[in-house]
Amino acid sequence: MFILGIESSCDETAISIIEQQGLSFKVLSERISSQAKLHEKYGGVVPEVAAREHIKALPLIYDQVMREANLKLSQIATIAVTCGPGLKGCLLSAMNFAEGLACYSAANLVAVNHIEGHLLVSMLDNPELKPPYLSLIVSGGHTEIVQVKDLGDYTIISRTIDDAAGEAFDKSADLLGFAYPGGAKLAALADSVTSSRFTLPRIMPNRMEFSFSGLKTAIALLIQKHRQQLLQDASLKAELAYTIQSAIVSQLRERLELAIKQTNIRKLALGGGVSANQALRRAVLDIPKSESYFTRANWCTDNATMIAYAGALVPRKYTPLVYPRWPLEDLSNFVDTSRHDAN
Ligand code: KG4
Ligand code: ZN
Repeated sequence: MFILGIESSCDETAISIIEQQGLSFKVLSERISSQAKLHEKYGGVVPEVAAREHIKALPLIYDQVMREANLKLSQIATIAVTCGPGLKGCLLSAMNFAEGLACYSAANLVAVNHIEGHLLVSMLDNPELKPPYLSLIVSGGHTEIVQVKDLGDYTIISRTIDDAAGEAFDKSADLLGFAYPGGAKLAALADSVTSSRFTLPRIMPNRMEFSFSGLKTAIALLIQKHRQQLLQDASLKAELAYTIQSAIVSQLRERLELAIKQTNIRKLALGGGVSANQALRRAVLDIPKSESYFTRANWCTDNATMIAYAGALVPRKYTPLVYPRWPLEDLSNFVDTSRHDAN
């Protein structure tokens, strides 16, 4: 059967079609339209602008994926749409579009939690991966370690008490003169050197929670202190980027090691935009006695394939309600339509 996934929770408009045959899945078509360029001049996502762009992009992308998959709407069995967490107006764009499609078809409309999409897509790219596993979700808005006990059964082991790791990357990149979102650009510069003469403090060592706010201040002070030299010495900028990346990655790795100790689960999956970071991947591979599962870069960042896949694995009843905050712990309150049908 064919599943259409629709995602518009932040600044990426995405639609994918996957085919499910029993327990095997095949991606037939996927498109992502990023608004990053549009928001660059504001230094962050402007919610109203983003919502308007989603409304423009959705029908165009829909036509492209349907043509590529060579399907008609009547052939789609399930429409899976992100209902949260995310920006309210942005979420509503995809939800309205999905409701429109559902009106003109017999497809089952199901609600998907965006973070659950990030958690589960690791299994699509690594079919040998099965729960229980630990998933580190690191993006511009999220930094958490989740224990995936089973499909739909999640416990948050660790979360950030202030900023997200992606935000620390992007704010630091901004201070180094990179356009938003500068995380990947800072990472590329950091990877051009192998050492640095700078140091940054370790934040809250031996604590389970993440914290990047104090680190951000320390980074800002460090850049401020060397501002004059930065103008004259290009290698200094690369070394600063290296130190910043190392500090963020070390904190992520330390918490993962603590989570392994606490749960005794050694399978580690990574999700979210920051999980494309190569230094982070190297650090995770280096954790003793662990198995690491990485996902291709275009399924790490926001995409609709993860939404279609999560909607197929854990179909949740769609209600026309938007959930800008939708904690993973609340998911058990949502009726799983597959179980509902079975009763
Ligand atoms: O998951 P995502 O596409 O969107 C959400 O925030 O939900 O993640 C985007 C974040 C941005 O902060 C971006 O700078 C960061 O992921 N990012 C990276 C890399 N690629 C993307 N950060 C560090 N290194 C990278 N290679
Ligand atoms: Zn995301």
